[in-house]
Parts: sequence; structure tokens; C-alpha cells
Amino acid sequence: MARITASVYTSHVPAIGAAMDLGKTQEPYWQKVFAGYDFGRQWLKDNPPDVIFLVYNDHATAFSLDMIPTFAIGTAAEFAVADEGWGPRPVPQVKGHPELASHIAQSVIQDDFDLTIVNKMDVDHGLTVPLSLMCGERDPVKDAWPCPVIPFAVNVVQYPVPSGRRCFQLGQAIRRAVESYDQPLKVQIWGTGGMSHQLQGPRAGLINAEWDNRFLDRLITEPAALAQVPHIEYVREAGSEGIELVMWLIARGAMADTAGGPPPKVAQRFYHVPASNTAVGHLILENT
Ligand code: DHB
Ligand code: FE
Repeated sequence: MARITASVYTSHVPAIGAAMDLGKTQEPYWQKVFAGYDFGRQWLKDNPPDVIFLVYNDHATAFSLDMIPTFAIGTAAEFAVADEGWGPRPVPQVKGHPELASHIAQSVIQDDFDLTIVNKMDVDHGLTVPLSLMCGERDPVKDAWPCPVIPFAVNVVQYPVPSGRRCFQLGQAIRRAVESYDQPLKVQIWGTGGMSHQLQGPRAGLINAEWDNRFLDRLITEPAALAQVPHIEYVREAGSEGIELVMWLIARGAMADTAGGPPPKVAQRFYHVPASNTAVGHLILENT
């Protein structure tokens, strides 16, 4: 049987990817951001998953305004790194896990969540920056990512977007799906995006460290209650792009304690302001 061993949470700021690709990580500004990921990089080597189920949002890269799936699961064998306007990031292609992805699609759809099945999709900074943060520099040709990745794209760009409650329940369904897969795979689920940031309008540059830290507290200790927070609170308190944080509830919903198991162990917690226009948050929770 497959099982979810841990969940990882991290922001996906595109400038973080650029800092890595351009060799700027040792500059004082960036050093403080990357220091928060030293632990996670070692932890990932010490706790290698067989598959990463990576919840992220596409930024009008794979899905334009022509077609906007609320929840899309990548079932392909590989996913090209998207060109977001400056050329594709120089990182390895993402290898998928079609068998497990198809099983999860089958199970979750039968469990009443209507996923869009995506057999061809390019992946943008929403997915590649978290991988880079946790895995470190990778040569696009000589290296690979440490394991297959199932991309799971959530619409948090064009309203209406899914509620935190729906995301949390979806995480619980993903957990049931993984646990009904008949291979002994160790699966990590990553929730990405956030924390507070607003990229547009009169409030551009908004950061709310107090709200973010309360979100981290509640994500750890009372995720089901946190899942009841309405969209308007994210937007008001954490900025228009702070809504990306609902994706963290999918990963959190997949942890054992949401199905009667023991509470997770907090292996890492990091918070830093700023990186580009965004508050960077990072958590690692282990199922015990
Ligand atoms: C920034 C953050 C994001 O989440 C994003 O998708 C694009 C830009 C930023 O901080 O600049
Ligand atoms: Fe974003």
C-alpha cells in the first residue's frame, strides 16, 4: 500500500528561481531566504520520497483565460518546463507518474471531486520554484529531479476559486486515494504558493506577517477550523495573491490526523519577509 509520509509547504516566488538560475543565492538579500531551506534540502535527502504530489497554481501559463480548470491532475509521463516570457528556466524536465496519477484521478473522482485530467501540460514557476528550493541547483541536462512528480494545478487566479474547505476535503480524498494504491510507495504531498502578497492595485506590496504566522500556527494545530476561513479574509488580510494559501489546505488535509491518526511532527518552520513582493513561509510536517 502507498502512504503519505510527509507534507511540505512553501512559497513559489519566481524571483527565487531567477536568483538560483543567475547564481545570486549568496547575495545578502537572498542568503536569508535560502538559509531557511538548508534544513529542508538535507531533510529531503534523508527522507527520499518515491513520488511527490505537488499542489501548485498555474499562472496563465498552461491554462490561459480560454479554459480554467478548478482542479487539474497531470497524468503525463513528462512535463516540459514552461517559457514564462524570459525563456524556460534552466532546470530538468519534470517526470510524472502516470500510473499513480491515474489511480488518484479514479479514486478522487469516484469520491465526488471533479478533477480535470491533463495528459499534456507545461509547468511554470508555481511548480519549479518549490522543487528548486527543496532540491537545490540542478543541471537541466545532466541532472534530474529526485523522483517523479505528479503536478496538481488549482485555480487561484480567476474567480470563482475553490474554498479552503473544499481544498481541505480534497486533501482528505487524496489521502484515501494514495492509501488504496497497491504499491508500497512513499508519497510526499507539497502545498505551495503564498504567503501574503499582492502584486497589483493600490495595495500592491501588502505583507501581513501577523496574519501569516497565525495561519502557520493554525495550519499545524487546527487545520479543519482554518479551512472554514472565507476567501474574503485571505484577500483582505493576505492580499489578492494571498489566496494561493488555500492550496496549503489540500496538503494539510492529506495528513494522518485528519483521518483520526496522530498529530504530525513539525520538522521545520521558517518565515521570512521579503522575497520579491512576497512573504516566504515554509513548513515540513511528518506523519509519525
Ligand atoms: C511574485 C509572487 C508570486 O506568487 C507570483 O506568482 C509572481 C510574482 C512576487 O513576489 O513577485
Ligand atoms: Fe504565484
